[in-house]
Amino acid sequence: MNILGINGSPRSGGNTEILLDAILAGAQEAGATVSSVKLRHLDVSPCRACDACKRTGKCIQKDDMHDLLSKMEKSEVWILGTPVYWWGVTAQLKAFIDRWYGISRDIFKDRRVALVIPLGSSNPSTAQHVLGMFEDIFAYLEMKQIGTLLVPGVYERGEAKKRLDILEEATRLGKSIVTEV
Ligand SMILES: Cc1cc2nc3c(=O)[nH]c(=O)nc-3n(C[C@H](O)[C@H](O)[C@H](O)COP(=O)(O)O)c2cc1C
Repeated sequence: MNILGINGSPRSGGNTEILLDAILAGAQEAGATVSSVKLRHLDVSPCRACDACKRTGKCIQKDDMHDLLSKMEKSEVWILGTPVYWWGVTAQLKAFIDRWYGISRDIFKDRRVALVIPLGSSNPSTAQHVLGMFEDIFAYLEMKQIGTLLVPGVYERGEAKKRLDILEEATRLGKSIVTEV
């Protein structure tokens, strides 16, 4: 099984990265082939709403979304990571999601996807719009949400490293993605 992590945090060594890596390590231990990309290292421009994709089936923007899309197609499971930014997702993750507009529905249908969402607030409901956004998108595209790691109360860079219980939960989630097919 190929599993692709897609990290939407702009912060290197941040909490999304730590948690996503723990999930991927668990999945790898259980036998999956894992890889990950950091959106901050890629050139993924926002959708321009030119609708060229509707006419030609392809986005006209020449950026890293094309390579990323081919990685996504080869991966049975995607793990999407974003911290909560202003009760929403990061700009990097939003630009990436907006580009789904130009992609064939077949790529999404029945695709298994998990979420990893750290946030500074200790109140989990601060992530309600992020969770709601993903729930609606996944339902619309007929994707299968197979796990969510919501981690409130991590604010500083690398703080998630100290949360050993959460790291264990992340590793367990990674393993379960592979074993509970
Ligand atoms: C621009 C910005 C906006 C943020 N907005 C929120 C917010 O609305 N609610 C919250 O709980 N934390 C907020 N945070 C804190 C991040 O969610 C928190 O630091 C998270 O652990 C960052 O993950 P990372 O280390 O992977 O980047 C914000 C941080 C930044 C930099």
